[in-house]
Amino acid sequence: MTNDGHTETVRRLIGAAGGTARGLADAVTRLGPQRVVPVLANEVMFRCGPARNHIPVTAELVIGFGADATTVAMAFPTGKPVTAAGDSDGPMVMTFEVDAVDLVRELFGPARGRTTGLGRITMHTTNPDGSPDWAVGAAASVVADQLVVACTAQKPDLGTVALAYDSDKWGALHWFAAHYDRHFAPLRDDAVTVLEIGIGGYGFQDGGGSLRMWRRYFHRGEVYGLDIFDKSHIEDLRMGTLVGDQSDAAVLREIAERYGPFDVVIDDGSHVNEHILTSFRALFPYVRAGGFYVIEDLWTTFQPGFGGRDTPGSSPGTSLDLLKRIVDGLHHEEHTAAGEPSYADLHVVGLHVYHNIAFLEKGVNAEGGIPAWVPQGHEVISAMYPKKDPATGAS
Ligand SMILES: C[S@@+](CC[C@H](N)C(=O)[O-])C[C@H]1O[C@@H](n2cnc3c(N)ncnc32)[C@H](O)[C@@H]1O
Repeated sequence: MTNDGHTETVRRLIGAAGGTARGLADAVTRLGPQRVVPVLANEVMFRCGPARNHIPVTAELVIGFGADATTVAMAFPTGKPVTAAGDSDGPMVMTFEVDAVDLVRELFGPARGRTTGLGRITMHTTNPDGSPDWAVGAAASVVADQLVVACTAQKPDLGTVALAYDSDKWGALHWFAAHYDRHFAPLRDDAVTVLEIGIGGYGFQDGGGSLRMWRRYFHRGEVYGLDIFDKSHIEDLRMGTLVGDQSDAAVLREIAERYGPFDVVIDDGSHVNEHILTSFRALFPYVRAGGFYVIEDLWTTFQPGFGGRDTPGSSPGTSLDLLKRIVDGLHHEEHTAAGEPSYADLHVVGLHVYHNIAFLEKGVNAEGGIPAWVPQGHEVISAMYPKKDPATGAS
C-alpha cells in the first residue's frame, strides 16, 4: 500500500464505520484531523473518477472537526483524474462542507444509498455584478454532482465503474461486469480482501484499471494485485501491488500467508492453462468460506499457444477440464467407486460458468450422499421400470 501510516488509519476508520455512532466518533477524535483528513481527501478525489466538466475548474471540500475545519482544494481537469489543486487550475466553483464523522460513515460504512443532506453546498457561479456566469455554472453543476456523489454512500454498478476506471471487464473486449455484479453484490458492504492475479499493462504500460475498479466497487475493501512485473508506482490507499509469478506455487502460498485469507481471488494473469491450474491449487485454500475464486479468459482452453487444445471435449490440463472435473467433484459423495476426495471436491459448493469466466464458490461440500433407503440398486430400478419391447411396447 502507498503509505503505512495512512493504511493503518484507513483500516481503523473502516472498522469504526461499521460499528456504533459513539465508537466511530471516538475513533475519529482519537485519530485527529492530521491523520483523518489526508485519507478522506484521497478517497474522495479517487471516487470522483475522471473530471467530466467541459472546462478546468476547482472546488473545495471543507472537512469539519467540531469547531475546527480543514479545507482541501481539488482540481477537476477535464477528462483527467481529480487531484489536489494548485494556483492555476481554474476558477473555484463550489464549496462542500461536511463533518468528518459523517463523511467517514458515508465513505467507509455500509452503504445506505443517501445522496443528499450530508453537508452544506455553496455554489460560486456568478459574475462580480451578480449575474450568472453560464459557462462556469455548467462546469460547476457537473463538479457538484461528482463531488457530492463521491462523498455519499453509493453503490454504482460494476459496468459504470469499469468504464470510469479503464478496466476492460465491460465493453468491447469482455462482458464480465454483469456476472461479477450478480455474484459480488452480497459482499459489497463487507470489508473484503481481494487478490487479483494480473494488474495489466505487462512490462510496457502502467495498467491497474481493474484494481482501481475493485477499490471503487468494494468501498470498504482492500485490493491487492499480483503481477510478474513491478507495478508499485500505481499503489494507492486500499490498493496494493505484489510482484510474483503465478506459476510458482511457493510464491503464491507465501503471499497468501501474508495477505490472506481472501474473500475473492481473481485469475486474470497469464491465462496459460498450466498456470491457471497451479494458481487455483495454491490459492483456493486461502479463500474464506462464502468467498469466490474466479477464473477469467477460459478461451485459452482452445489455444495451443496457451497450453490448450483446439477441439471441444476432453482436454486434460486445461481450465475447462478443471471445471468439468469440479462438476464431478461437487458430487463426490455420490461416487460409487470414490477414491479420496480432493481439497476442491470437499470445498467447492457452487460453480457458475459463463462465456469465458467461471465463479467457484467456497464452502464445505458435505451435505451427505443420497441415503441408502432411496431406491438406487440396478435390481430395484429394473423392477420399477422393466424394459419394454420397443416394437410392441410390452414389458
Ligand atoms: C490481462 S492483463 C490483466 C488486466 C487487469 N486484470 C485488468 O482487468 O485491468 C494480464 C497481466 O498478467 C501479467 N502476467 C503475465 N504472466 C504472469 C505470471 N506468470 N504471473 C503473474 N502475472 C503475470 C501481465 O504482466 C499482465 O499485466
